[in-house]
Amino acid sequence: MKEDKGLKSRGWWLMVVVITLKVAECGQPVLHRIGGGRNTWAPHTNFTQWSSQERFYVGDWLYFGFDKRIYNVLEVNSTSYENCIDKDFIYNVTRGGRDVFNLTVAKTYFFLSGRGYCFEGMKVAIHVQEIPPEQLLPNSSNGSQSYVYSHITLLAMLAVAASAWTFPY
Ligand SMILES: *[C@@H]1O[C@H](CO)[C@@H](O)[C@H](O)[C@H]1NC(C)=O
Ligand SMILES: *[C@@H]1O[C@H](CO)[C@@H](O)[C@H](O)[C@H]1NC(C)=O
Ligand SMILES: *[C@@H]1O[C@H](CO)[C@@H](O)[C@H](O)[C@H]1NC(C)=O
Ligand SMILES: *[C@@H]1O[C@H](CO)[C@@H](O)[C@H](O)[C@H]1NC(C)=O
Repeated sequence: MKEDKGLKSRGWWLMVVVITLKVAECGQPVLHRIGGGRNTWAPHTNFTQWSSQERFYVGDWLYFGFDKRIYNVLEVNSTSYENCIDKDFIYNVTRGGRDVFNLTVAKTYFFLSGRGYCFEGMKVAIHVQEIPPEQLLPNSSNGSQSYVYSHITLLAMLAVAASAWTFPY
């Protein structure tokens, strides 16, 4: 009887994992809050450090939250990024200060704030990758794995909690 129950709950686990794997595979677009905080786009944040801990995929979005009276968000090329040049930018992301940007291409995007704030650290490079093919997911070596598994773990925990609630053993 005891073994039976163990088997049953393992079956639940398997089902949960399979379902969550499917969900994760769909590659839902993620909205990345720049810098991670509330007023996301502000001086004296190490955005390089932040972006190196995130995984960006094609179709994901960036969110910039900032005071538009003081700062702005400009997409620039690598030269301008390195040297904090806000002239001849590629695209002006600035709208109302709660602005989003669609990462449509697998490449490195560069953003900075003009008006001198780039020199105070308001610059960020975003390395966007293609969504990894389904088949590669379980064995992919680098960060995409942790990206997927963080989703899986969360969903699995929720599902297990839900199933344990509905079917107490
Ligand atoms: C930001 O963090 C990166 C990686 O941790 C580090 O290499 C860099 O020196 C930091 N930049 C500043 C301005 O502190
Ligand atoms: C944003 O990117 C997604 C995925 O690439 C695309 O389907 C969508 O149309 C884009 N939306 C806008 C407003 O550009
Ligand atoms: C970046 O843009 C500036 C201004 O348009 C231009 O002079 C420079 O050659 C560009 N650099 C690259 C790497 O495209
Ligand atoms: C960017 O767009 C905003 C809103 O349309 C505008 O107020 C601002 O002047 C623009 N910035 C630059 C540098 O063109």
